[in-house]
Amino acid sequence: MRKPAENIAILGLQWGDEGKGKLVDLLSANFQHVVRFQGGNNAGHTVVVNGESIALHQIPSGALNPGCFLVVGSGVVLNIEVLHQELERLRERGIDVGKRLLLSSNAHVVLPYHIALDNWRESGSDRIGTTGRGIGPAYEMKAARLGVRLGDFDSPNAIIRITSVHREVSRIIDGSTPLPPPEKVHQNLNSLIQPIKDCLGDAQRHLLDAWRKGESILFEGAQATMLDIDHGTYPFVTSSNCSIGGLFTGTGLPPKVLTKVFGVAKAYTTRVGVGPFPSELKDSTGEHIRQVGHEFGTTTGRPRRCGWFDAVVLRHSCSVNGVDGLGIMKLDVLDGLDSIGIVKGYKDKSGKHIAHLPSATYGWEDIEPITEYVDGWKVPTRGIKNWKDLPTQARKYLHTLEEAIETKIVYVSTGPDRDSGLATPRSWAKNWLG
Ligand code: GDP
Ligand code: IMO
Ligand code: MG
Repeated sequence: MRKPAENIAILGLQWGDEGKGKLVDLLSANFQHVVRFQGGNNAGHTVVVNGESIALHQIPSGALNPGCFLVVGSGVVLNIEVLHQELERLRERGIDVGKRLLLSSNAHVVLPYHIALDNWRESGSDRIGTTGRGIGPAYEMKAARLGVRLGDFDSPNAIIRITSVHREVSRIIDGSTPLPPPEKVHQNLNSLIQPIKDCLGDAQRHLLDAWRKGESILFEGAQATMLDIDHGTYPFVTSSNCSIGGLFTGTGLPPKVLTKVFGVAKAYTTRVGVGPFPSELKDSTGEHIRQVGHEFGTTTGRPRRCGWFDAVVLRHSCSVNGVDGLGIMKLDVLDGLDSIGIVKGYKDKSGKHIAHLPSATYGWEDIEPITEYVDGWKVPTRGIKNWKDLPTQARKYLHTLEEAIETKIVYVSTGPDRDSGLATPRSWAKNWLG
């Protein structure tokens, strides 16, 4: 075995859309493999290069770097139709990833039945504001051992399993939505799989071999810790483990492969869909952040709920993931505000201080944020590339965040483009961030 390379995970620490796509694109130039390990096309990761923006949903955000090999691990649930659309959009830009894409044969396939079930559930009183992409039901059927995997299309297994899922979903929704017959679904998926057959294979073996050869691997998280099915705001979560554990189950690699965990958070907070959000701003400041930050979903176009940075959430996410360093994104969105809030703790209705996140849903209903305010800055940070060029108040804000979270900031993003941002002084991530 050669000298071990640095293998880094990039993980969202809030409720998603932190800017993981931008960071993965930025770092991927220095990595040989970029890997998605959970989630599906509920993810929308935006990469902006020279002012041109591209949203990736299932293909790893290293796609724009021709030297990166792209791997989709077994923990991902894949919508093959959407995959073709993504491949086509990349081809339109002159990027053909076909020769450098490996899809795990063990990854489960999202079926129209999963989407129908997701939307049927969302039309009821238990709705949680999912992306409607069938992600929950696809993981649900995986756990129920009814799922269909990419590799099943080699054998009669696929039609047998599609028929089982059809039966199961029909039973649940009881005729309220028409479902396509299994034969038609099978035929359609089979024809979609044929052109990408060469991309299917043993992703675990590929990554183990890469690691043993000392090749560098970048892991791209989707969603975020607060949406993690175990460590987030259950039941208002997605159906996978988006925090660190999902990386190992979703690739089949052992923990010692990983050398650093790079956590990503916005300089404020957003959330799409229903669920607790203690630092939410339902006023004109929240609306200002939404407009300036273009806080509308990459996948569904829904307006994102906006609020102040929540240090309690970040402390939780940093501990769950063992974060080594933070990327603070979208600092520029706060430009021009007179004062900026940071939620440093919570209190209950009687005023009693709560130091940690409530573990049960009902615990969230009665908490109020304890918000401290710092001065804003008037000089715009947009596009700044050097720490010393940041306004003094912006640097103070970042120091205040670091102290509140007890984790070092290694990168600050000041615009959507690849070049807008800076590695902080003495950052361990300088090697990759330029
Ligand atoms: P992801 O899901 O974590 O990859 O994040 P999304 O791509 O869904 O959302 C982040 C959005 O913020 C995208 O539109 C990015 O282009 C944009 N973005 C990323 N970093 C910055 C930044 O520093 N400043 C601004 N203004 N926009 C940014
Ligand atoms: P990226 O990777 C933001 C949210 C949905 C909903 C909940 C469950 O771009 O950060 P699901 O469709 O997964 O069953 O929905 O999770 N959600 C996201 N929010 N960014 C995402 O992905 C998300 N993926 C799912 O809005 O609240
Ligand atoms: Mg997103």
